[in-house]
Amino acid sequence: MFRYRHHIFVCINQRPPGHPKGDCASKQSREVFKRFQEEAEKRQLWETVAVSGSTCLGPCTMGPSVVVYPEGVWYGQVGVKDVEDIMEQHVVGGKPVERLLLSNLMPKADG
Ligand code: FES
Repeated sequence: MFRYRHHIFVCINQRPPGHPKGDCASKQSREVFKRFQEEAEKRQLWETVAVSGSTCLGPCTMGPSVVVYPEGVWYGQVGVKDVEDIMEQHVVGGKPVERLLLSNLMPKADG
């Protein structure tokens, strides 16, 4: 039986062209998902890390959206080039990648 230490969800949702919410698939999230799978395989983490494509996770305008459990760390605007950093720094090293945290990417309310 697998005992996952981390479960990574990557939004691969696709909406019809012109939809006001947009979607992550049109921002290469399926390539991001594939890259996570490749990284997990390269690092032989299949028994400890699950990678799942998901439907909409919510923060569509900040996509591609990724969430890593059990920490519940949300990432936004994740590109293929960012996957290695998330795997190395967060999943292996235990330190979330600050520059990609959704909370750091959201516009700040004036105050
Ligand atoms: S479409 Fe990806 S978060 Fe909504």
